[in-house]
Amino acid sequence: MKSTNPSAKGQATSTGADAEPALAEPDSRDELREANEALVLAGLREQELAERATRLFEEAQRATRAREEILAIVSHDLRNPLGVILTSLDMLGPLPEGEGLQPVRETLARIRRSAERMNRLIGDLLDAASADAGGLTIDARPTPIATLVTDTIDSHEPIAAAKSIRIVGEVAPGLPDVMVDPMRIHQVLANLLGNALKFTPHGGVVTVSLAESADRHEVRCVVKDTGAGISREELSHVFERFWQAPRHAKLGSGLGLYIVRAIVEAHGGKVFAESEPGSGSAFAFTVPVIAARRV
Ligand SMILES: Nc1ncnc2c1ncn2[C@@H]1O[C@H](COP(=O)(O)OP(=O)(O)O)[C@@H](O)[C@H]1O
Ligand SMILES: [Mg+2]
Repeated sequence: MKSTNPSAKGQATSTGADAEPALAEPDSRDELREANEALVLAGLREQELAERATRLFEEAQRATRAREEILAIVSHDLRNPLGVILTSLDMLGPLPEGEGLQPVRETLARIRRSAERMNRLIGDLLDAASADAGGLTIDARPTPIATLVTDTIDSHEPIAAAKSIRIVGEVAPGLPDVMVDPMRIHQVLANLLGNALKFTPHGGVVTVSLAESADRHEVRCVVKDTGAGISREELSHVFERFWQAPRHAKLGSGLGLYIVRAIVEAHGGKVFAESEPGSGSAFAFTVPVIAARRV
């Protein structure tokens, strides 16, 4: 940092022959002052940056809170009337037999399907919002995962039968209990099995397998289908929020796999996706075995 201060220069000329040692002092004083000024400026800038970061953080927090409040209000206000619709349908009970009532029966079934779909969508939006905010609640307890898998397969049999799809369960014998929230893992299984059935054409096969890892620290579940598969590029997006392959747009919300990943990771597990375009896809996840079993 060389000084260009005119007063320093003037002082140097006035001392004549002794200019050399005299020059050194004012120069270093100026350099010191400049360095000091630079430090003060840097300090101010740092403070300004810190204040800006705090402001941005507070704004982001306010936006997150506002979004959560809106979601809570909307979901509550939407869920109440939906609940009334579904309970009223239940109260109607089965209509008396008779050809004349067939159109009414079909209309009621349509109303029920739409109300249930809306209910699921609201649930997914709430779960995705909680996942974003890092607040998915997990109530983990020792759980026999094989039972969860067979229950989920059983509840999906009617959907599979409607498309002549065979669901094959391959559950390794003697699996240890896993440390999971049974409701949440049921949600994961239902999402993966639901996708496999949705994206596999008539007459296909969906295999759900369950086995312990080699180190016996976790159990791995794989849901494999014989659908059209997913390209390598698309595979890198499947777990993103709202992502759907363009050809599948409008077949769902694109939130399912995002929630699957959030739930599995909240358990300390991992999700995987593989596909051979043309011959099917496989989605897998791991969950931890209860600690007592590991020793
Ligand atoms: N088993 C599968 N076979 C082919 N594509 C799949 C499969 N599972 C998921 N996908 C692709 O990933 C997208 C995201 O899945 P998901 O998050 O469950 O959303 P949604 O089912 O609501 O479309 C799907 O729209 C589809 O394009
Ligand atoms: Mg889905």
